[in-house]
Amino acid sequence: MSAEAPVVDLSVKIGDLTLANPVSTASGTFGKGLEFRPFYDVSRLGSVVVKTITTEPREGNVPPRLAELPAGLLNSIGLANPGVDEYIRTYLPKLRTLGAPLVINIAGHSVEDFGTLTARFAKEEGIAAFELNMSCPNVASGLDYSTDPVVAREVMDRVRGETDIPLIAKLSPNVTDVRPIAEAVVAGGADAISAINTLVGLAIDWRKRRPILGRAYGGVSGPCIKAVALRIVRQLYETVDVPIVGIGGIQDADDVMEFILAGASVIQVGTANYYRPTAALDILEGLPERIASLGASSLREIVGTLEMP
Ligand code: FUM
Repeated sequence: MSAEAPVVDLSVKIGDLTLANPVSTASGTFGKGLEFRPFYDVSRLGSVVVKTITTEPREGNVPPRLAELPAGLLNSIGLANPGVDEYIRTYLPKLRTLGAPLVINIAGHSVEDFGTLTARFAKEEGIAAFELNMSCPNVASGLDYSTDPVVAREVMDRVRGETDIPLIAKLSPNVTDVRPIAEAVVAGGADAISAINTLVGLAIDWRKRRPILGRAYGGVSGPCIKAVALRIVRQLYETVDVPIVGIGGIQDADDVMEFILAGASVIQVGTANYYRPTAALDILEGLPERIASLGASSLREIVGTLEMP
């Protein structure tokens, strides 16, 4: 950070949790955080979100699992992870050394499983918040938890019953209208909503008459989805009274300013981590002067201040 950087209060709250700044990492794009330590001091981030963890270990989907798109990426990883027991035994102790608040991202295979997973993690030290992956398009039933308000509410009720730790519901853009889903998760006790997860897409190798990915369909991320993400963040901001965590094609601090004006209090850097490992830090360092240029001395002052026609 330059010596002349203006003093701007970047802190944000999610439930009872105060984050020093709004910059976080999107689940699945930041390894376990530890891999980024050679590039910068990860403890400077407002929080770190880990790859989704499930009850049982998962190998993930049949390869190929990734395809490059113009201005984006198509993935079908299939929630590959070592499962909760191995995660707690092997990885959690290392993650506690990251220095940034740790957000554990979990996905159940049923409403009950969301509750069981939460209960298992809630006994552990050092977890700042849970992000509930209710919106993975790459596993059977993965989307079911954020495409029906009744089911979304059931997940929230079940998880809320297990913990007082802040809960962030990660919603899908693959719906006609995200607003009823958002209202349902807030009614069920969500402290924040993160949006958006990936858009369902298909990449084709026409010469082979085959989809490129082993499972055919995947989730589109990267700059090509930013405009969709901004639209949904704005709709969420106008609908619910909890902080919005904006995700979708964020590459730099200018993108983040757009998300903040749309209504995001926190943002996650995702696909950009793959091609610019310092993206999240660069964004953090670029925010104070941009916020100050709007005549504000805190991030909170400008959240949602987009002037809509
Ligand atoms: O395939 C995956 O693991 C992706 C997960 C997600 O988009 O939530």
